[in-house]
Amino acid sequence: MSQFEIKDQVSLDNIIELKGIGQSYDHGQNWIIKDFNLIIEDKPAQGQFVVLLGMSGSGKSTILRYISGLQKPTEGDVLIKGKPVDSNTHISMVFQQYSSLPWMTVLDNVGLALRYQGVSKKERDERAMELIKLVGLEGHESKYAMYPTLSGGQLQRVAIARSLLANPEILLMDEPFGALDIKTRIQMQDLLLELWEKFHSTVIFVTHDISEAVYLGDDIYIMKYAPSCIVEHIPVDLPIHRNRDTKRDIKFTEIVHHVEDTMIKVSGNK
Ligand SMILES: Nc1ncnc2c1ncn2[C@@H]1O[C@H](COP(=O)(O)OP(=O)(O)O)[C@@H](O)[C@H]1O
Ligand SMILES: [Mg+2]
Repeated sequence: MSQFEIKDQVSLDNIIELKGIGQSYDHGQNWIIKDFNLIIEDKPAQGQFVVLLGMSGSGKSTILRYISGLQKPTEGDVLIKGKPVDSNTHISMVFQQYSSLPWMTVLDNVGLALRYQGVSKKERDERAMELIKLVGLEGHESKYAMYPTLSGGQLQRVAIARSLLANPEILLMDEPFGALDIKTRIQMQDLLLELWEKFHSTVIFVTHDISEAVYLGDDIYIMKYAPSCIVEHIPVDLPIHRNRDTKRDIKFTEIVHHVEDTMIKVSGNK
């Protein structure tokens, strides 16, 4: 039995459990995901940064949709803190595509979750402004959240601020920096690490970029595909507080090479 096969006991110490997941869109003739197992322990006071790394089409977005409750797998269980996923868990999601509402201002976009909770406009605006400052968008709060009024990087800052306002226990990020130019991408990676140290959420970050995975992640899970499942867990043995120098550390390069070799080995199976 490999470490990724199902363990029967349900433990409340796990924040996310995906057990025996299978996905077919043609009544079981083809399986896009099969025997997918992933268990993520809860580290409440500390949070954690988990990266799912896989080629395009390996089912990464699908896995995030299961965790958020947007989709149910054909087979298997998705448990959040030992229970089937429901609307009571504080889960936020940031997508690759800009997901802000372009007919609303930055301020209203960031405060959106609170509006649904019935929080007064005054309090909403105050709390949204705190986040807007944190992500470096002060002065842009009255602009409409649309391109090209705001740049791609600024729109992702809006999305991150909005997702953090709800102070989520679980923050799902689906290739959030995939559409950004390299400089903005690096700035956003550093911003995300800085915010994460404040918020201590459990972040599940999906990417196909190896260097991004190693820079951000505490734990990298590598997915193979056709059908998709996790084939390797690589703990990232780098300092918790990362910065530009981390990328020049020989250890960083060694881990990138190790992950690269594993990805190549894995894609040989497709
Ligand atoms: N509704 C659907 N019907 C058929 N195939 C689908 C459907 N949704 C997703 N897929 C397939 O599932 C696979 C995984 O998709 P996805 O989770 O988006 O992968 P990734 O995010 O890793 O690129 C892809 O091959 C995609 O074509
Ligand atoms: Mg995807």
